Amino acid sequence: MRIGILTGGGDCPGLNVVIRAVVRMGIRYGYEIIGIKDGWKGLIEKSYIPLDMDSAAGLLPRGGTILGTSRTNPFKSEDAKEKVVENVKEIGLDCIVAVGGDDTLGVANKFFKLGIKIIGVPKTIDNDLSGTDFTFGFDTAVSIVTEALDRLHTTTEAHHRAIVVEVMGRHAGWIATYGGLAGGADFILIPERPFDIEDICDVIKERGKRGRYFSIIVAAEGAIPKEAMGVISKDAKADAFGHVRLGGIGEYIAEEVEKRTGIESRHVVLGHLQRGGSPTAYDRILATRFGVKTVELIREGKFGRMVALKGNSIVDIPLEEGTKKLKLVNMDIYRIAEVFFG
Ligand code: F6P
Repeated sequence: MRIGILTGGGDCPGLNVVIRAVVRMGIRYGYEIIGIKDGWKGLIEKSYIPLDMDSAAGLLPRGGTILGTSRTNPFKSEDAKEKVVENVKEIGLDCIVAVGGDDTLGVANKFFKLGIKIIGVPKTIDNDLSGTDFTFGFDTAVSIVTEALDRLHTTTEAHHRAIVVEVMGRHAGWIATYGGLAGGADFILIPERPFDIEDICDVIKERGKRGRYFSIIVAAEGAIPKEAMGVISKDAKADAFGHVRLGGIGEYIAEEVEKRTGIESRHVVLGHLQRGGSPTAYDRILATRFGVKTVELIREGKFGRMVALKGNSIVDIPLEEGTKKLKLVNMDIYRIAEVFFG
C-alpha cells in the first residue's frame, strides 16, 4: 500500500503531528508513505518525498508543515485536474490523505467522486468545519489569544485606553468567543452577530462610570459593523477559492471608539501569530488521534470519509458531510461570554 499525504490551505499547529501519526502507524502496517509537497500543487507538479521513521522524528512540537502548503485549487483548470489524476497513477499512490479545511477537503471530495481513494483530515484554527466538534489548531490559537489579552490588559489599564484586538475568524467567531471568554474581554464581536458601534461605546462609557477606565474589545476579522453592511477588507483580490483577504476591522473600531467617546484607543492585529509555533498538548493529542484513525480507515478500505471528533470519540463521516456547511459559533457559549461584557 502506497499512501500519499498532503497538507493544504492555511497552515495550523498540529499538521506535523498528523503527518507523524500517519507515518508511524502506516509503517507499523508495512505501508509506504509519500509526502506530497505544497498541497494539491504537489500533485499537479509531481513534487513529492518519501517519508520514513527519520522524517517523522521531532514533529510533535513543530508548527507549520514539513510538506509545505498552498491554496492551489486544481479544479480551476481542466489541465490541472487531469494532471492530478494522471500523477496519482504515475507516482503509484493507492490512496491519498488530504489534511485541510473546507477548500482542501472540498477538492478531496471531488477527486473521490472521480475515483481516487481519499481520506480527509479536518484542520483549521478557525474551528468552522461542521462535521467535527473541534479541529486541531484551534486550541493553540485560543491559547495565543488568551496570553495576548492577559498582556494587553496591563498596558491598556495603565494608560486608561480602549484596545481592540483583531483575531482570525473569517466566517465564524470561534477564536474570538473562546479567546475573549478566556482572556476576559469586555466585548466580543463575531461575524454571526453584526454589531452596532454605539453599543460598544456605551459599554466603554458605562465601565468608566464604575471606575474602570480601560476596555478590551475582541473582534473577529469577519465581524460586521451594521453601518458598513459587510465585512471590512483591505484587499479586494481573491485567492483560488474566491476568498478576499480580510483585515481592518480592529483599526476601524478603534478609530470610531476614539471619535465617539473621546477615549484614547489602539488596535492590535494578532494575525498569523495565531497560526504559528508549537501546538498545545490538546492539539497534539487530537491530531495524533486523527492520524491514527486515518490509517485504520485505510486498513479497513473505508475511503471517501473524513475523521472527526464527536464528543470524546474519534469517528468517521462521509467526506461530503464534513465540508457541507460552515459551523457557526454555538450561541450558548456566546451567551456565557456575554455575561461578562461591560
Ligand atoms: O486558515 C484560515 C485563516 O486563518 C482565516 O481565519 C484567515 O482569514 C486566513 O486563514 C488568512 O490566511 P492567509 O495565510 O492567506 O493570510
